[in-house]
Amino acid sequence: MADHLAALVADYGRPEDVIRLASLPRPALEPDMVEIAVERAAINPSNLIPVTGAYRNRTVLPFVPGFEGVGTVSRIGADVTNFKPGDRVLPLGAGGLWQAYLQRPAEWCFAVPADLSTEQAATAYINPMTTLRLIAALKVSSGLAGRRIGVTAAGSAVGRMLLMTLSAEGAYVTAIVRSESTAARLPALPGLQTVVTGQQPIGRDTVFDAVVDAVGGDTGGALLRYNLSAGGVFLQYGALSGIPIAQDALSARPDVRFAFLWLRSFVHSTGRQALSGAFAAML
Ligand SMILES: NC(=O)c1ccc[n+]([C@@H]2O[C@H](COP(=O)([O-])OP(=O)(O)OC[C@H]3O[C@@H](n4cnc5c(N)ncnc54)[C@H](OP(=O)(O)O)[C@@H]3O)[C@@H](O)[C@H]2O)c1
Repeated sequence: MADHLAALVADYGRPEDVIRLASLPRPALEPDMVEIAVERAAINPSNLIPVTGAYRNRTVLPFVPGFEGVGTVSRIGADVTNFKPGDRVLPLGAGGLWQAYLQRPAEWCFAVPADLSTEQAATAYINPMTTLRLIAALKVSSGLAGRRIGVTAAGSAVGRMLLMTLSAEGAYVTAIVRSESTAARLPALPGLQTVVTGQQPIGRDTVFDAVVDAVGGDTGGALLRYNLSAGGVFLQYGALSGIPIAQDALSARPDVRFAFLWLRSFVHSTGRQALSGAFAAML
């Protein structure tokens, strides 16, 4: 079988410096595997951050990045009965989407509904499912209606989905962004408040019952310290600043329920049936 092209990372560093195009072999298929001809794969922070070496304890060099994408089954292993060549699938549970052909166990592949375009399917997994997991985590303590909720990096794909979902659930939502130009691109939602942080922390008179944070660093730390109600919730799911929340900010608020949310943990701990259910709820 002819070699195929892949984006390969052999050293950690800035993605634009270290991602190279390489020719890789197409190995023989194990009986439980399918081979997928990748058609579209997403580029977003979740894919780029591992390239920098941020998760080097669970990333073995060299590797092909890309946690999300869609393709067509090109070959099936001898034991595979649930897919046939030509089926469109979303392969979940590991990286490697940034290559022409990808092998994945059939049990980690999900059929793409016919009414979903290839472009839609390529981004239908990580960010939408992360949003739904964050919403579910916020609902653990109480419903969302009437709660004051701050969303950082609100102009991101996840941020915008959070704003729309929280707003639809009746929460009082505040979009927290770092520039006026990002504020101008936010969805027009009834009652949506917007705060542009710039160089300044948010005034201490602004109080949230919950903060959903993807920035960390000083922005996340100040929100945790000064802008959460007594017994509030701080949910972190990213660190776009590249800096974790300082320990003294965490220590200053022992009353707050602080939690990390990693989609990866959910995907790897839940069964195929629950994942299918989560897809059905999204699509
Ligand atoms: N925990 C999980 O399982 C999980 C899953 C999916 C995504 N994530 C995380 O979710 C976050 C958003 O991902 P995405 O794909 O939605 O991003 P995206 O659509 O590519 O948008 C990135 C956004 O981040 C903002 N941003 C970047 N650096 C920032 C900083 N230092 N301070 C404030 N804002 C900053 C940008 O703001 P400007 O518009 O101002 O440039 C932009 O709006 C990332 O941290 C990603 O790793 C986590």
